[in-house]
Amino acid sequence: MIEIRNLQKSFGNKEVLKGVNLKVNKGENFLLIGRSGAGKTVLLKNIIGLLRPDSGAIKIDGTDITQLDKAHLEKVRLQFGLVFQSSALFDFLTIEENVGFFLYQHTNLKKSVIRKKVTETLALVGLKGIEDLHPYELSGGMKKRVAIARAVIFNPKILIYDEPTTGIDPIAVDKIVALIEDLHTRLSITSVVVTHDLVVGLQLADRLAFLLGGKIIFQGDKKDLEGSNDQRLIQFMQGSSGGPIKEMEV
Ligand SMILES: Nc1ncnc2c1ncn2[C@@H]1O[C@H](COP(=O)(O)OP(=O)(O)OP(=O)(O)O)[C@@H](O)[C@H]1O
Ligand SMILES: [Mg+2]
Repeated sequence: MIEIRNLQKSFGNKEVLKGVNLKVNKGENFLLIGRSGAGKTVLLKNIIGLLRPDSGAIKIDGTDITQLDKAHLEKVRLQFGLVFQSSALFDFLTIEENVGFFLYQHTNLKKSVIRKKVTETLALVGLKGIEDLHPYELSGGMKKRVAIARAVIFNPKILIYDEPTTGIDPIAVDKIVALIEDLHTRLSITSVVVTHDLVVGLQLADRLAFLLGGKIIFQGDKKDLEGSNDQRLIQFMQGSSGGPIKEMEV
C-alpha cells in the first residue's frame, strides 16, 4: 500500500531523513516509533504529500507521489484520513462543521445530508449530541474522537494517526485504542500510527518500524521485535538512559 525508498529530507543543513526505506502492507496496522525529534511527523508529512522530499520515492498503491503535479497529488491525498498530533480542529467552527469540513468543501451535498452523515460518523466514534458545540467546549479525549471522525467521514483507504493518545487520561487512551482497532476491522483500513506510547503502540501494531538517525533501523512484526538483538532497539523499548543511543541522538 505504501512503499518508501531511500527517502531524504533536509531543512537547511539539518538532515532529518537520511534514506528511509519502509513498506506498509494493505490492511495492516503499522506502528512507527522513534525518539522525539527523530522525524516521524516529517516522514508522515512526506507520505501524505504535505512536504516534498529532496530525493527518493514514495509509492502509494503503486503510484510514486513524488513525481506527481499538484492536481494529481490532491487526488491521491483524498485517499488519506489524517489525525494530527494536536487534534487540529477549527475552534471557530461547530463540531458538525469540523467533522463535515471535507464534505462541505469537496461535495455539493445538501446541509441536511451532511448533518446526517456527521451524526452517523460521530456515533461510529462513540459521540452523540455534540454537533452544535464548539471544540473549546470538549475535553481532550472528545477532541481526539472528533478528529478521528473528521478523518474517516469520506472513507479513506489509509488512516494516519500522529500521537492519537497524547494528553488524555489512561482510561480515555484505552478507549481510543479500542476505537482505532474497531475502525480498522470495521472499515478494513490500512493504518499508520505514530506514538511514544509503546504499550498502546504494541497493542495496536501488526508490524512496526523504528526510526533512528534518519533511517529505519528495524522493521518487522512483534516476533521479529522479540528476536532482535539490536541494543539500540532494546534500549528504546526499555526506555533506558544507558545504552548505545546517546542522550542527544535522535
Ligand atoms: N518545517 C520545518 N522546518 C525546519 N525544520 C523542521 C520542520 N519540520 C520539522 N523540522 C525539524 O525536523 C526534526 C524532526 O521533527 P519531527 O516533528 O518530525 O519530529 P518527531 O519525530 O515527530 O518528534 P515528536 O515525537 O516530538 O513529535 C526536528 O528537528 C524539527 O525541528
Ligand atoms: Mg511528531
